[in-house]
Amino acid sequence: MTPPAHHHDHSPGPAHHDHHPASEADEAGLAEVLELDAEVLGAHLTELADWLARSAGPLPVRRILDLGSGTGAGTFTLLRQFEDAEVVAVDNSPYLRRRLRDRARDLGLADRVHTVAADLDADWPDFGGVDLVWASAALHHMADADRALRETAAALRPGGLLAVVELDGLPRFLPDDLGVGRPGLEARCRAALAGRHAEAVPLLGSDWGPRLSRAGFTVEAERLFAVELTQPLPPAAGRYAQAVLRRMRGALDGRLDAEDSAVLDLLIDGDGPENVLLRADLAVRTERTVWLARRPFSQ
Ligand SMILES: C[S@@+](CC[C@H](N)C(=O)[O-])C[C@H]1O[C@@H](n2cnc3c(N)ncnc32)[C@H](O)[C@@H]1O
Repeated sequence: MTPPAHHHDHSPGPAHHDHHPASEADEAGLAEVLELDAEVLGAHLTELADWLARSAGPLPVRRILDLGSGTGAGTFTLLRQFEDAEVVAVDNSPYLRRRLRDRARDLGLADRVHTVAADLDADWPDFGGVDLVWASAALHHMADADRALRETAAALRPGGLLAVVELDGLPRFLPDDLGVGRPGLEARCRAALAGRHAEAVPLLGSDWGPRLSRAGFTVEAERLFAVELTQPLPPAAGRYAQAVLRRMRGALDGRLDAEDSAVLDLLIDGDGPENVLLRADLAVRTERTVWLARRPFSQ
């Protein structure tokens, strides 16, 4: 089933179920982080897509499914890599789907991108025999990840490939000693956040290999991409750090002591040289693990 080539949402019957975000500001904050992530880590994404193309196998890649597509970091990287392909971008956030469509239009790619409104925790639409599925930072959100992987296998044609990209937490930007407050602020923030993640998204940072095998996939590769960008950084790195720290501050509301909270405020919104937009000691460090798993030809 090829969705019609239009630029509006394809809403497949009963599976069409949008979530209701806490607020538009919250969604906008997430969108900003996702877009800056794609911009700052663009070279890493290109390297990843290149590896994927070399691993995809003999059959052409024409239909790609991007699960939990967000603002389209994967969608646009894959459209560049697979020039003959179209991407079906699935997300339950209307706001993020709209951002993705706007970007597709701005890039002149609207006819190769179809957004689909679906809650991947509910019944899946019939995506019909796709060649490649990309799921980046999405599967850990699923209430029943095993079921989502079985659905993913069913959406792939025999011999089709799934790329699962997962990270164990937010990227790191700061040196231990910030010249203000106690050393180790970022490490304390991450430890506090890990506590929240353990409650809210227990699958974050887990090993997807055994789950993929259980769902019937053949796991062909597992690769850790350890990204470390140092000065001179891409121009958007300061804004990326600011956006990530801002979301971190929101998530940690009430979980940091007064001194750490005040320093975090200075880093994000301060007028002085502590602000991450001005710091010369910023870096970008992040680790992403990628599993390549194939639906066997014989199934
Ligand atoms: C962390 S973002 C990752 C976005 C994008 N894949 C990327 O790597 O930049 C997770 C995405 O999954 C979507 N998502 C979460 N739960 C979902 C569900 N049950 N059904 C559909 N999409 C979902 C969110 O709306 C969000 O866009």
